[in-house]
Amino acid sequence: MSKFYITTPIYYPSNKLTLGNCYTTALCDAIARFHRALGDDVFFLTGTDEHGQKIEKIATAKGMKEIDYLDEIVADTKDLWKLLNISYDKFIRTTDDYHVKAVQKIFNKLYENGDIYKSTYKGKYCVPCESFWSEDQLVDGKCPDCGREVVDADEECYFFKLSKYEDRLKKLYQEGKNFLLPESRANEMINNFFNKGLKDLCVSRKTVKWGIPVEFDKDQTIYVWIDALSNYITALGYLSDDETNFKKYWPADVHVVGKEIVRFHSIIWPAILMSLGLPLPKLIFGHGWLVYGGGKLSKSKGVDKKEMLDPRVLCARYSSDAVRNFLIGEISFGQDGPYSQELFLNSFNGILANKVGNISSRLIGMICKYNDGLINGKIHSLPEDEIFVAKIKELKADCIQKIKELKPTLSYKSALRIIDECNTYIDVNKPWELAKQDDGSQRISAILYYATQAMLEAYTLLDAFLPEKIASVLKLFGIEKVKIDENACCNFKIDGIKVEKIQPLFARLDLNKEQQELDEIANKE
Ligand code: ME8
Ligand code: MG
Repeated sequence: MSKFYITTPIYYPSNKLTLGNCYTTALCDAIARFHRALGDDVFFLTGTDEHGQKIEKIATAKGMKEIDYLDEIVADTKDLWKLLNISYDKFIRTTDDYHVKAVQKIFNKLYENGDIYKSTYKGKYCVPCESFWSEDQLVDGKCPDCGREVVDADEECYFFKLSKYEDRLKKLYQEGKNFLLPESRANEMINNFFNKGLKDLCVSRKTVKWGIPVEFDKDQTIYVWIDALSNYITALGYLSDDETNFKKYWPADVHVVGKEIVRFHSIIWPAILMSLGLPLPKLIFGHGWLVYGGGKLSKSKGVDKKEMLDPRVLCARYSSDAVRNFLIGEISFGQDGPYSQELFLNSFNGILANKVGNISSRLIGMICKYNDGLINGKIHSLPEDEIFVAKIKELKADCIQKIKELKPTLSYKSALRIIDECNTYIDVNKPWELAKQDDGSQRISAILYYATQAMLEAYTLLDAFLPEKIASVLKLFGIEKVKIDENACCNFKIDGIKVEKIQPLFARLDLNKEQQELDEIANKE
């Protein structure tokens, strides 16, 4: 059994989370569940990033205390993760006491190591991104990350000696160790940052009150990104009384983050870890965006409301599986991908109704019709059945391999191809024709047996991606807890099991009707 530590970014509770935010979490959840099914000791972390000027401003505008505002929105975030079937092992809030204490200790350590010094910062600041920029980094005078207005910052603060780590950081990228994937993102870091030289980073703010105070200088609060990045180790108990999880799980196997925050994770975070003398994460993966009309689906930028449906509505109407199917299956992991209601609904019908749901209602229907609902083992298997099993075995191995390579979209597609193979096998062998022959019944039993084995292989692999609906079918075949056996194939103990007809897991949608109703909901919001 190997350990597997996977993290999402911690979310800014600056507003209710959007479908875009669900992207990172849904993908990480599928990967985490898959590793658990493989028998790994998984630790899956998510949480909320609650300090900084942005939160201070929002709470003030609402006439609320920061923490009261945050408690409300964090509760809503946790509800959303429940709706989406997110199986996190820990939810960290950066306002949690243990985190606050550990971050102060981390800051002290950096200071004691001589990597933090006091000076004056003169430059620009993007409040929504909580990012510092110099004049020459701005694009048309605006924030190069989000394109919004920046404000002047001119204050005394502490700096972190990022420049000191430049050579060691560069090596991470030059040695071809795949520290940051996809590769294009590593090239971006080299071209946009390393080639211009790394500058020391302002890591405290005098004018921001909603933050963790610097222990040895209470006028200053710790820069929100130092506070936020530290969550990946404080959540494991780093510098607390109990470092058991830290010793067990660190370094992270992968930090999955959106492309706009790759810089923080692949330059600033490793430098902090180097200063602390800790091992680096094994991999940073910078995924793409769910886009609508050319921009990111985000909570701070305005997009057409009609197209930006609340993920809570989508979960309630179509199931969490429907949302996960779209995010995992329709957007190639690592790249941007478009979202629209039409694409969402088409994917529901094409993948969930026609493939995933149809295979079990179709096959179980045939088992009932031609075999009295009984699975009675392999009698009369022919060489072509072995060929079929070999194909399934190949697709299963590919599905597992792709997850290990952090290619969840491709892994999902391999599992779906097992369903295609299964349908082809049934279509070629035509049990309905055999049923008309006097001596056809033994052959029918064998075909239904092998098809069921293949369906169960597909379903056990798909369970990590679609954890809401599939489990009910697996239960009919005595599978309560999904385990993926890498060495076996089509070997489920199902002889003698009796089944009854089931309703399709995903009923086909009337696209016009759904589109109309979704438009009405969106207009009301
Ligand atoms: O950045 N498509 O938090 P956040 C895909 N607090 N992913 C999207 C998306 C979209 N349309 N919109 C948002 C922060 N995301 C910091 C992180 S970590 C130490 C601190 C993703 O709430 C985004 O890319 O702005 C990011 O991975 C995540 O939602 C959280 O974004
Ligand atoms: Mg963001």
